[in-house]
Amino acid sequence: MTLKDKHIVLGITGGIAAYKSVMLLRLLMKADAEVQVIMTPAAKEFVTPVTFSSLSGKPVISEFFTANSGEWHSHVDLGLWADLMVVAPATASTIGKMANGIADNMLVTTYLSAKEDVMIAPAMDLDMWRHPSTQRNLTQLQKDGVLVISPGEGSLASGLEGKGRMAEPQEILDEIERYFSSKENLKGIKVIVTAGPTYENIDPVRFIGNYSSGKMGFELAGEFARRGAEVTLLTGPVTLETPAGKIKRINVSSAEDMYIAARSIFPDMDIAVFAAAVADYTPEIKANHKIKREHEEEITIRLKRNPDIAASLGASKKNQITAGFALETDNELENAQKKLKTKNFDFVILNSLRDPEAGFMKDTNKVTIVSKSGEIEAFEAKSKREVARDIVDILEKAIKEKSETL
Ligand code: CTP
Repeated sequence: MTLKDKHIVLGITGGIAAYKSVMLLRLLMKADAEVQVIMTPAAKEFVTPVTFSSLSGKPVISEFFTANSGEWHSHVDLGLWADLMVVAPATASTIGKMANGIADNMLVTTYLSAKEDVMIAPAMDLDMWRHPSTQRNLTQLQKDGVLVISPGEGSLASGLEGKGRMAEPQEILDEIERYFSSKENLKGIKVIVTAGPTYENIDPVRFIGNYSSGKMGFELAGEFARRGAEVTLLTGPVTLETPAGKIKRINVSSAEDMYIAARSIFPDMDIAVFAAAVADYTPEIKANHKIKREHEEEITIRLKRNPDIAASLGASKKNQITAGFALETDNELENAQKKLKTKNFDFVILNSLRDPEAGFMKDTNKVTIVSKSGEIEAFEAKSKREVARDIVDILEKAIKEKSETL
């Protein structure tokens, strides 16, 4: 695969494996990528910047300023320029800094400014690799969405044998190519994701809502966009930023508004994921004026049923693949299977409120995906970003199978 027009920031940290990054850079250049090398001060103790600048055709960046000219290197610009940042080798120290936002060098500041994905290839001694601190930092980075290329086993610079050897340059290149080719996986596919809560007005200043943060839906929209899909993100009121990529965001407030918008978009879609926590009921009468305290001793708000967006669109579906969520407290699997039928879903993503890692306002989720054909796949508790990857993997497979049979 060619990496033409791909901008890669290659971060090099101070480990003996830095010599292998010379080969990685050569492979990237051979694949036609445009590479900007950033070295930490310690990395320069292992390989000279001249080696990397000659191979990449660009001066290596290492300091915030060029000493004699005073030219400032903007980590913000680099973060925007990069289609991918690859840190290889990533030492235990840099991994710790990245996991904790300790931005005392150009490499970590660029990491914090990176808009696109970041990949790391750890390299260290076996005991450092095993240390709980390293493992904790790696888990944190994975939760933050960083892609980790596992080190291999073998002889280490310390003379010991074991895990900690940086992946070979060719393996890292393969990962990079796989990453970019997956960006094309859903090219041309149109996806709608509903997200967030809905607000059902009682009067102009009060509403009935719920605790949905919208995070799961936003992560899904981001993941679809990263794979090249054209995404419409139809969201209730949330405070989240729209993820990067080709995402058209439509903000709505009530279930009724969400229903009207979804109905007009759905016929044109290939995939729909219903991640919104839609209010099931709405006040029958919405007061035009603020309800005043002095008027009544007691008031009753009568509620009427809202449209079921997923069920209504599910009933009208043609070739679309649809998936919805089921947040349950008991009889989880049975209820999930019921929703699969009533809403005509191809997949139901079940979270149980009995799992402490699942549910509203959390950064993690623990899901079981149940398919129309009866398969049940239970996943570990993961960050919502990782859960989004698992869900999109399944939907991507389903749409590919469908297009093969059509
Ligand atoms: N859903 C929807 N429109 C609604 C209610 C739910 O589109 N009015 C979607 C949700 O986005 C979710 C799925 O249907 O994907 C299941 O939502 P849930 O609230 O669990 O289901 P309900 O049908 O409301 O069932 P109940 O609350 O009784 O469990």
